[in-house]
Amino acid sequence: MPILGIDYEKCIKCQECMKDCPTQNFSLGEDQNKILFNGSRCILCGHCIAVCPEDAIKYENMKDTALVFESNQDPSELIEYEVLHQFLRAKRSIRHYQNKKVPQEIINKVINSMRYAPSGANMRFFRSLIISDDDKKNLLTDAIINTLESRDTREHFQGMRMKGLDPIFFNAPHILIFNSKNPWDTRNVTIAMTYGMLSAHSLGLGSCWIGFAHGVLQDHPAIARKFTGIETYILGVMILGYPAVKYFRAPPRPPMEIKEL
Ligand SMILES: Cc1cc2nc3c(=O)[nH]c(=O)nc-3n(C[C@H](O)[C@H](O)[C@H](O)COP(=O)(O)O)c2cc1C
Repeated sequence: MPILGIDYEKCIKCQECMKDCPTQNFSLGEDQNKILFNGSRCILCGHCIAVCPEDAIKYENMKDTALVFESNQDPSELIEYEVLHQFLRAKRSIRHYQNKKVPQEIINKVINSMRYAPSGANMRFFRSLIISDDDKKNLLTDAIINTLESRDTREHFQGMRMKGLDPIFFNAPHILIFNSKNPWDTRNVTIAMTYGMLSAHSLGLGSCWIGFAHGVLQDHPAIARKFTGIETYILGVMILGYPAVKYFRAPPRPPMEIKEL
């Protein structure tokens, strides 16, 4: 989203862009009468677009539109804390799924919400691979189980497999694998996946992190290549589908220790 500059027909010189730009790309001209933009340090975070009351920032089309808040709306009030808190507590890792594919447009909604997660220096190199084909899922499941380092777990899971169970992906209809050419994208992927999972929850979908799959695929690139075609770093794996389980309460969690220095 390269920022192209300022629309001086609209700019009221309020200097909000100058104040909010995290990398100081805006400055006052010599005569103090014009705000100047120099994008040399721009990280394309779009804060200037967000903060300008006059919509005076010009930017390249990035196949998305800015989300405009009502003039009297405080964005922090879009969801009340108590509602959000309950929503967060109500989300479970789902390990039982209906045998029903999620329509592509709903999966797109989940993926779409990940775009809006924060990321280091506003960079996003990661991409997603979705596996929905049953044969491909089964081959991947067996490959992961047979590669597990712990003999105990491996044999336990192989036994479950003999009984037709799926201890890795829980027969979920979709496996989502996030990968990037940059290994340091891992935190960005983690946060984006969390956004996606919360969105999935709001759409009535279940999801679960699959650390077992992530561990094997990141440590064994040859297996990843063979069963997923992915040549880059695998940074996160999750499953998605319609839950076949209903929860009646959110379990309690111990308080987090808070220390003051
Ligand atoms: C990084 C990470 C990896 C996880 N890997 C697995 C996994 O491989 N298999 C699984 O069944 N659950 C996995 N989980 C889910 C956790 O077990 C789950 O979050 C925890 O038991 C609490 O349950 P809740 O998410 O329903 O609150 C993982 C969670 C995280 C955050």
